[in-house]
Parts: sequence; C-alpha cells; structure tokens
Amino acid sequence: MSIFKSHISQMGAYKPPLEGRDNHQHLLLDFNERVLPVAPAVKQALIDFINDDQLQVYPAYGNITQKIADYCGVKSEQVMITNGSDQGIDLIIRSACQEGDEAIIPGPTFAMYHQCAKVENLNIIEPTYSRENGFPKQAVIDAITNKTRLIVLANPNNPCGTPVARETILEIAKAAPQAATLVDECYFEYTRQTVCDAVEEYPNLLVTRTFSKTWGLPSVRLGYVISRKENIDALLNVRGPYDVNQLAVVAIDAALSNPEYTQEYVKEVIEVSKPMLEAFLDKKAIKYWPTVANYIWVFPDNPDAMEKHIRASGILVRPKLDANGRKGLRITLGNKRQTLKLEQCLSSFEIN
Ligand SMILES: Cc1ncc(COP(=O)(O)O)c(C=O)c1O
Repeated sequence: MSIFKSHISQMGAYKPPLEGRDNHQHLLLDFNERVLPVAPAVKQALIDFINDDQLQVYPAYGNITQKIADYCGVKSEQVMITNGSDQGIDLIIRSACQEGDEAIIPGPTFAMYHQCAKVENLNIIEPTYSRENGFPKQAVIDAITNKTRLIVLANPNNPCGTPVARETILEIAKAAPQAATLVDECYFEYTRQTVCDAVEEYPNLLVTRTFSKTWGLPSVRLGYVISRKENIDALLNVRGPYDVNQLAVVAIDAALSNPEYTQEYVKEVIEVSKPMLEAFLDKKAIKYWPTVANYIWVFPDNPDAMEKHIRASGILVRPKLDANGRKGLRITLGNKRQTLKLEQCLSSFEIN
C-alpha cells in the first residue's frame, strides 16, 4: 500500500526524452531551445560570481524583479520570479485549484499543465486544436462551468505554434471570472504578443514567461509570473524564499544587460530560418501547421523513417502526436546555417 494519495501513486512521471542529448555531438532541434551559445557577458558573470566565493551564501534576489518588470513594462509588484516557468505553472495550479475542480486545457499541448493538474486531481477538459481551425475558441467557452477553476491558454501553443488572439484571451478571462486564466507566454520574444498589460483590468489573468527559450538559459531555470499585486502576493505565500538559485539571477541579470544577443537571434530565426524552412517544406509538399513560434510541426507521410534519417545525420527533432493520434515531428528552428544543414539532410531523404 502506498503512503501517498492514491491518485499520485497512479500517475506517471513527466519524463522528457533527455537521454543521449549532447549539443557537442548533435544539432538539437528537439526542445525549442536557443541553438547558439549565450552572450560572453553571461558566461563571465557566472565565472565572476563563482570566483568571488559567493556560493556558500543563500540567494538574495536584489533588484532582479524590478529589472524583469522594466523589461516587461509592468510594475515590480506585479512580478514573481520562479524556478523556470514550470514552477510558475505549478504554483498557479496548486494555489487556485482543489480536488474535483475543472481545468480546461486545450490540447495537444505542453505536458506540464496536465502533470500539475493531475497532481491536484482535477477534472481535465481538453478541447482540441486543429491545423485548419487553430485554437478551439468556441469549445473552450462552451466548456466553462461554475466548477471551472483553471483555463490554460498557451500563446503560442506547443507543439503546434498556434497563437491565441488577444481579444479571445480577454473574452475567455471575462467569461470565467472564478477561474485562473493562465496565459503561457513562454515564446513571447518570437511573437511579441502579450496580455501582461491587461493584468490589472482582468483580476483572474496570470501570465507565465521564461528565460529558458529565446534567452538560452534553460539550465539555470528562471521564469516569472505576471499578475495583479494581490495574486502575486498570494503566490509568494506558496513559493519558497530560495526556490530560485542565485546563479540564475546572476545569469539573467547579465542577459538583460545584453539584450541584443537575444534580439538578433530572434530576428534571424523568425525573418530568415522560418520562411526558409517553410518554403522548403512547401516545395517538398510536406504538410506542416502554421506557426508563429521558433518550431514547426511537420507531418510527413512516414514520420518514423524521416526521424530516423534526421537522427542518423546527427540532428534531433521531437515526435509529437496530434489529437487524432497521428505522429508529426516538431522541429525547432535554429539560425540560417543550422536550417541549411537540416534542409540538406531532408533533401537526401526519400519522401515516400
Ligand atoms: C509552452 C511551454 N511552457 C513552458 C515551458 C517550460 O519552460 P521552463 O523551462 O521555463 O520551465 C515550455 C518548455 O518546453 C513550453 O514549451
């Protein structure tokens, strides 16, 4: 007999396929990461911190929250830093929901929402995205009941790259004032679409963001939540005082002081690599979902063979199933050189 709550013992762990990933051996197009190293100033800041013998001291966050708030154009009292946006998602769900509540999580989507919702033993309602119709707006609105305590809106969604229009997000938040409306802006820098300016007007709106993707720092784990002060204060009652490690704060402080590294990368990915790969896929008549993010979900006739071929060339991509169980390959966009490498590899693959 388990000492844990029965639904916890019955759950599965969230296990991303990390085995064998080595960026010195592979071109990693499987986790939507930045595919280039970070700014030298970020590396130097970490080295300086270590050499300054500060590792034995507990974390103190200084003005990092203010710096992030300035970057986002909100007040610092509207921001809480977290151990990756995964922690923000977890804290919001834990703090807003209890066993038996309903959670609307359009899918297929990022696994962490389900993981956290299952820990709380929520009833998950999953309207589905489609390539043709995008975000299932009406199904989400129709699913709202007086038991709804959570609505997840990933903007854009992972794995499909589908955006949710600002008016739609606000309409949904208004239609379910009793529910935490969690808007995941993990890929914000690629889209520049945000509702963080609306958190004061919409008391149930919570935005999560991260330094893991565009900023290239998933290893140090820093995310943040933006919401009205009352919500941030409540979430701070749950977050631990040292949940964010000091190396993350040092690295992100330096990254924010060198934003051109991020901006230039985003520009190349969105303005060069994305149209390049889309044109290539069109020419090869390989179907893919329209995307606004740094990844493209492609649906070749033979995804397993294609993945094997790509892997044999030292490139990793991520297989993902659509709502009908059909397998596609989610391919992260890198810079122009990396996209050319991928195209060369795909050119030597027999499509049918
Ligand atoms: C939509 C989405 N949200 C959140 C995350 C997690 O980000 P973090 O590394 O900040 O926990 C990911 C990572 O893949 C993601 O795709």
